[in-house]
Amino acid sequence: MRFDEKLFSYVLEASKEFENGFDGNPVVPTAEAIANLKQFDEPTPTTSTPAMDVIKMLHEVGTPAATLSRSGRFFGFVVGGSLPVAHASSWMTTTWDQNCGLAMLGYANAMFEEVSAKWILDMLDLPADSGMGFVTGATMAGFTALSSARQKICKDFGYDLRKSGLRNAPEIRIIASEDIHTTNVAALNYMGFGRDEIEFTPVDEEGRIIVDQMPELGPNCIVIIQAGNINSGAFDDFKAICAKAKAVGAWVHVDGAFGGWIKVSKARGHFGDGMELADSWSIDCHKWLNVPYDSAISICRDRNAMMEAFAINASYLESDGDRMPNNFTPELSRRARGIDVWAALKHLGKDGFGKMIDRTCDHATWFAGALSKIGFTIMNDVVINQVVFCLVDNDDARLARIMERVASGGRAWFGPTTWHGRSVYRMSISSHETTQADLDVALQAIKDAMD
Ligand SMILES: Cc1ncc(COP(=O)(O)O)c(C=O)c1O
Repeated sequence: MRFDEKLFSYVLEASKEFENGFDGNPVVPTAEAIANLKQFDEPTPTTSTPAMDVIKMLHEVGTPAATLSRSGRFFGFVVGGSLPVAHASSWMTTTWDQNCGLAMLGYANAMFEEVSAKWILDMLDLPADSGMGFVTGATMAGFTALSSARQKICKDFGYDLRKSGLRNAPEIRIIASEDIHTTNVAALNYMGFGRDEIEFTPVDEEGRIIVDQMPELGPNCIVIIQAGNINSGAFDDFKAICAKAKAVGAWVHVDGAFGGWIKVSKARGHFGDGMELADSWSIDCHKWLNVPYDSAISICRDRNAMMEAFAINASYLESDGDRMPNNFTPELSRRARGIDVWAALKHLGKDGFGKMIDRTCDHATWFAGALSKIGFTIMNDVVINQVVFCLVDNDDARLARIMERVASGGRAWFGPTTWHGRSVYRMSISSHETTQADLDVALQAIKDAMD
């Protein structure tokens, strides 16, 4: 028999042990578990080790040092969780081990991308003929969309960027929210733009662009706005900004790493009104869609702009109607990420996905209310799943001491952040695992840590 049943039975048991530990184990690993990782740092192996021994070591030494970031009591950053269906499809994807770059290396992979793209565009009310690339994360999704934008603008000015290069290219202006996620700056850096070249435009107290204070735009502008501020969760005024940009032919890109999904929510979908007017969107699947890492989508209204920027073959335009996955991403060979996206969407359906999002937002609202009853001030308008908080006495050093005690206690984890120039704390609820019982435990952990 070809299949190593013993090895995979062990992995099954190890996976069970890991997930069943979400309720009792510390959310962050102990110092001892982290120190034990040194065991991996052995001299370069010259002789072989049985596969079972390798995997046993991975589990026995590696698992205790894993941060339970996909569990229900990890509220730092915006990290999502992993739906069982997507976890299982990810295992199947690895079993198939197909290169998703070319359709002939995995016809199903290309089909899963095509179908997922169709469903997502429909769910989010985006133009049905948009292009979509399946990439590692929102950083790369931003890079892909912004590179496509630059390609298109250069073409509109009669310049072939891929042929003639950057040196003599038309000048492109980047206008970005002052509160844009820093990874957009990184994406622009990869493209050759410097931080000082970005025109940062002022934001209000929730981190939304103040439309009246935006600079004059022109057809050589790329405007980067947000669906879901990393701290407050706020949404930019898509309609007003897109109207301003459309009037002069500027390109609008929406960083919707998590908030880009908001339209699937029945209760909060209106926050996404006007998002469909933009030209491109970057959205993580490993955040609110709860598929395993790494997974994100880059979407461009102008599908040809993506192909012109990224297709590896000169004859990039789709001639026979078949999707060629590498036409829409910076990579050629890659994992078939579309499979997990398809599995999660098929399992949840738009309604189930919307309910999952609303549940996390309701949890955030509840927790904000509970915090405000025990001596905290909520610093943002809790519109979705993000809560920024400080102490009522504004003693940020004491806040840090309390939250560090919470973190080291291992019952819950909240991340520090900077908001309105202060060092405060942020909670993000983006895992489908979080339950009311998790919130109760987390709240008690904070109460116990207060001096
Ligand atoms: C608003 C926003 N944009 C971009 C990113 C970067 O996403 P990724 O880490 O998936 O590249 C994040 C990550 O938290 C984010 O919240």
